[in-house]
Amino acid sequence: MGKSVNVGGGFLVVLLYFLGCLQVGLAQSSANAKGIAISWDDMKMDKRGARVSSKYDFNGSRVIVVDKNGGADSLTVQGAIDLVPQYNTQRVKIYILPGIYREKVLVPRTKPYISMIGDQNRVFDTIISWNNKASDADSNGTALGTYRSASVTIESDYFCATGITFENTVVAEPGGQGMQAVAMRVSSKKAFFYRVRVLGAQDTLLDETGTHYFYECHIQGSIDFIFGRAKSLFQDCVLQSTAKKSGAIAAHHRDSPNEDTGFSFVGCVINGTGKILLGRAWGNYSRTIYSYCYLNDIIDPSGWSDWNDPYRQKTVVFGEYKCSGRGTNARGRVPWLKPLKYEDARPYLDIGFIGGEQWLKL
Ligand SMILES: *[C@@H]1O[C@H](CO)[C@@H](O)[C@H](O)[C@H]1NC(C)=O
Ligand SMILES: *[C@@H]1O[C@H](CO)[C@@H](O)[C@H](O)[C@H]1NC(C)=O
Ligand SMILES: *[C@@H]1O[C@H](CO)[C@@H](O)[C@H](O)[C@H]1NC(C)=O
Ligand SMILES: *[C@@H]1O[C@H](CO)[C@@H](O)[C@H](O)[C@H]1NC(C)=O
Repeated sequence: MGKSVNVGGGFLVVLLYFLGCLQVGLAQSSANAKGIAISWDDMKMDKRGARVSSKYDFNGSRVIVVDKNGGADSLTVQGAIDLVPQYNTQRVKIYILPGIYREKVLVPRTKPYISMIGDQNRVFDTIISWNNKASDADSNGTALGTYRSASVTIESDYFCATGITFENTVVAEPGGQGMQAVAMRVSSKKAFFYRVRVLGAQDTLLDETGTHYFYECHIQGSIDFIFGRAKSLFQDCVLQSTAKKSGAIAAHHRDSPNEDTGFSFVGCVINGTGKILLGRAWGNYSRTIYSYCYLNDIIDPSGWSDWNDPYRQKTVVFGEYKCSGRGTNARGRVPWLKPLKYEDARPYLDIGFIGGEQWLKL
């Protein structure tokens, strides 16, 4: 998988899924042993083991089971994370049974190789939910700010998650003062998210730093709802806008042409309400590329924002390659947008963009 052939969206998904299944067998033995890669096996959970104690082994991985109704290893997700040893060197799978887990979760940098697994067919039923916003005060009376508003913070390297909804339930009008409310903040060096949902309003997904792969995910919000300075590939995702009037999808932060970061959206579907921009510049070298995406008519014809800075118009890296749908309105676009040729788009089109061959065994 990772090949971004321009075929119909549905077919592409099916094809990639099929290839993924085929390759599961190959990945199984190599991945955990070296401890450097994330494989499909790291995302799998044998449900028969789901009620057994934490000693249960699934192909060399420790399993910790979370059930809010009791009878498992932990009642809370954070409780399960706390059971993982510091400087852990082996994959630990945290299997979360369906339920709404109302808690704020931190997966710290000192605990790498963690998988968070829900039931892939019940992504709507396994929810980690909190409701902090930037203007909320911490115990010292200091405002949390955007970063600390996150419902779930993931710093852990080689982290992966599937079958879970991450949510911040603060309801915000776009641009509201102090209303930034992050659902998930990720600063893992490497992380993989497969079929997860990230739901919020303003500033939903803080893709802070590191190299990340989001595959078949659903990310929802109103303004700047995917933001940060990571290098990430979003493939076959649904980007759902909840903006009533105007909003924006991506706000990628890049201050120098030497920063090896950017957001690449490949084969994604943009859906929802309002008029939304594909990207807004955060820093002079903000980098965001959409390829083979379906852009419907909620896309603001101008497409992109540079804050009317003529310097940035030359330095930002914004582009659209072979997108389809009525939102692909080339004539309405900001005049400074540079058209992309295949050679320009090529580095962004598959997992090569995030060096996936090195750390993903899919
Ligand atoms: C565990 O690994 C073995 C060999 O790698 C494989 O045959 C088996 O199917 C795996 N178990 C599960 C439940 O995937
Ligand atoms: C509150 O202030 C104390 C002393 O400065 C500090 O140690 C603590 O981490 C602060 N708590 C929070 C939640 O920031
Ligand atoms: C598209 O957005 C509309 C309006 O928000 C929603 O009702 C619909 O379910 C969405 N479709 C998909 C495929 O997500
Ligand atoms: C961005 O470019 C402007 C010139 O338009 C410059 O004044 C500013 O310092 C630059 N910002 C950064 C963070 O480099």
